[in-house]
Amino acid sequence: MLDRRDLLKFATAGGAAFLIPLEGSAPYAAPRLTAGTGALTDVAVPEDTFTSPSPARAFAAPDELGDLAKAAPFAHAMPVLGAMKPAASHSGRSPRSGRTVMTDVYSMRQHKARVEIVKGLKSTVFTYAGCFPGPMIKANRGHEVVLEHHNELDNPTCTHLHGGRVPSKYDGLPMDVVGKGGHYTYRYPNKQRAASLWYHDHSHGTEAENVYMGLYGVYLLSDEEERRLPLPKGQYDLPLVIRDARIEADGKLRFARPIDCPHMLVNGKERPYFKVAARKYRLRLYNVSINRNVKLRFADGAEFVQIATDCGLLEGPVVRDEIELVGAERAEIIVDFSRYRVGSSIVLENTAALKERPEIMRFDIVREAKDRSRIPDRLAEFPSLPKPSREREFIMTSDPTFLINGKSYDPKRVDVETTLGSHELWRIKNIDSPGHHKPGYFIHHSFHTHLAQFRVIHRNESPVGPGESGWKDTVSVPPGESVCIAVSWSGYAGQYVYHCHHLGHSSAGQMGRVDVKPR
Ligand code: C2O
Ligand code: CU
Repeated sequence: MLDRRDLLKFATAGGAAFLIPLEGSAPYAAPRLTAGTGALTDVAVPEDTFTSPSPARAFAAPDELGDLAKAAPFAHAMPVLGAMKPAASHSGRSPRSGRTVMTDVYSMRQHKARVEIVKGLKSTVFTYAGCFPGPMIKANRGHEVVLEHHNELDNPTCTHLHGGRVPSKYDGLPMDVVGKGGHYTYRYPNKQRAASLWYHDHSHGTEAENVYMGLYGVYLLSDEEERRLPLPKGQYDLPLVIRDARIEADGKLRFARPIDCPHMLVNGKERPYFKVAARKYRLRLYNVSINRNVKLRFADGAEFVQIATDCGLLEGPVVRDEIELVGAERAEIIVDFSRYRVGSSIVLENTAALKERPEIMRFDIVREAKDRSRIPDRLAEFPSLPKPSREREFIMTSDPTFLINGKSYDPKRVDVETTLGSHELWRIKNIDSPGHHKPGYFIHHSFHTHLAQFRVIHRNESPVGPGESGWKDTVSVPPGESVCIAVSWSGYAGQYVYHCHHLGHSSAGQMGRVDVKPR
């Protein structure tokens, strides 16, 4: 292990470092830079920008809450997310394969901005490049993306590509943060299937608040396999980024418990409407709420077709009339609006609404349109799952705090050691059920792995439904349930994490460290 002096030497010698002081203000064991995760060889960061994560922030207490903003539903149009233009694109020969690699370079400043979420009110949010949600990145399989971030916020930040298979030093590990004035550069190889990924803040302790305040954006990875399919494309292929929020009467976006967050946002607007043509659309549903699940259905119970899970296309389409997403989960669906008359409207609802009304958004069918798209019976070929080489168990609890296997995240402690290329069976149990702990502990958890994608094999010992059978990176683990996933550790050796994606839980320590050893 390097000590602080070595790290400083390393910093000045290499001229290229990104350090975390060992003495930190963190509430857990002092964070420490581990060899291999910190140095970004292509960026020089002034030493005084290095920082350690802040203590976890608490939600506003009920007596601190201000009056809620009154928000009439469907008061404004849902924005269509625009793709960011690369600052530069170049091609070069890979020293390893000798092949030409295309690279798109993006640069984003993270700063506060004032945006209109509820009609007529201005809210201060955290943004990537002034956008809420952050700008959409469109990437192609095999083409590299270099993303340079400049932190102009008061909170320390780091950025994780959720669902991305990324070398450890570019993974945005919770301790690899920079403070105000710092910058860092990530390199994403995009050597994986097409999928609706996203990027978000991951700075340990503050990730819940940073994401809540706006640090998230869509990252669409496309490939040939996907482009060949006759699915709806272009303007008929839309990400819908859903989350809860609390906007108060003065416009303040207040970091509060889910039960105190009755506003539902799609692409940054409270319960918007969206004008569609009477034809098929591909909707990429994202739940980026930090602590809440949504269960989406159309108000008339109309069926739609699910075509993808978190990490890409399913093997075949699945007809559904409702879809549940825990925070960070994605699903892609094809909705055929030609079933509605031009001039009519249909509301998308959240049947898991808490105290608020169920409407999420309204689709207004405003015109006819040609539609040559269709949903093929076969969407993707999945290789058969290799036999797992070992089993592991992960117990999720919330009492007295959010833990995995009775432990709180300690970046110095290796919880799981595995080998690159291995296949394992992970059994995740949420034992927060009545009788086990104090009465009233019915806490929903989820489970997310960095680097590895997985398939859900069993839920409570029964095979899972077809809508959950694709490749995933986040899975719902409801109270009292047990979920079995087949995890494949492919990509890169190095340090990674797994955690509950209720970010209020992970920021309080419901996270573990996994070290992937080279073969
Ligand atoms: Cu979406 Cu470890 O995060
Ligand atoms: Cu949890």
